[in-house]
Amino acid sequence: MIKQAIIPLAGMGTRLLPLTSVFAKELLPINGKPGIEYILDECIDAGIKEIIFIISKKKIMIKDYFNRDALFKKIINKKKDKRIVKEYKKILKYKKMIKFVYQNQPKGTGDAVLKTKNLIKNDYFLMLLPDDLIVKKNCSKSMIKIHKKYKSSVMASINVKKKNVSRWGIYNIKKKINRKNFLIDYVVEKPNIKEAPSTKAVIGRYILPKTIFRKLVNQKIGKGGEIHITDAIQELLKENYKFIGHNFSGKYLDCGTMNGYIKSSIEISKL
Ligand code: G1P
Repeated sequence: MIKQAIIPLAGMGTRLLPLTSVFAKELLPINGKPGIEYILDECIDAGIKEIIFIISKKKIMIKDYFNRDALFKKIINKKKDKRIVKEYKKILKYKKMIKFVYQNQPKGTGDAVLKTKNLIKNDYFLMLLPDDLIVKKNCSKSMIKIHKKYKSSVMASINVKKKNVSRWGIYNIKKKINRKNFLIDYVVEKPNIKEAPSTKAVIGRYILPKTIFRKLVNQKIGKGGEIHITDAIQELLKENYKFIGHNFSGKYLDCGTMNGYIKSSIEISKL
């Protein structure tokens, strides 16, 4: 059963400067709605009951966004705006499901995951990276189905151009299960073109086993001076843990770069 999701939100968002100089990138509106709400809607629709936000002191505005009850009540009492009432109800629903933990030093995704160690209850949990929006089809839902069927960890994936491999975690295939699902042999974080074992890139949706914390506790600093979840996954692969790469059917929108962010708004407005 996958009932908990974690979302690392402590990143500085430097690729979106100057928009992120005073503002959390996950609250930037995409077609009138903060990016983080698309991510929340995806996991709630996939059956997730509790969501753990990993924030930092600098990103406290994310917590504030879900905690402005007094303001909403005041406005709603003054003017009966149906839209605001509806939005408030939605925010209250999210608020009930969210827990917060802190990662005050930007030490990487692996370090962010480690902060949730004491809150994870079941054997597996979902992680969503907020820069990666997937629309048209619920990727988390499809991955949970794969997880149930194969009793395995799962990572979302797409095929990328060879010249772009150094932007992603790249894996190679041990065995093709079917057209969309691949048993993973090994994974490497942001390899150069020569090192890359394939052009299969990991996208920000992961179903991870609780046992990954055992690896994260001792995980060494990797590429770019950060602790990567990819490296901890590779440690589990070495122990023959089963990971499936799932080429999802939805449309991928990379909101972490300025071009991608602008393009995402256009694409979502067309849905
Ligand atoms: C992270 C992961 C990388 C993965 C990517 C997907 O990188 O470390 O393996 O391919 O997300 O978006 P980041 O985007 O944080 O640089």
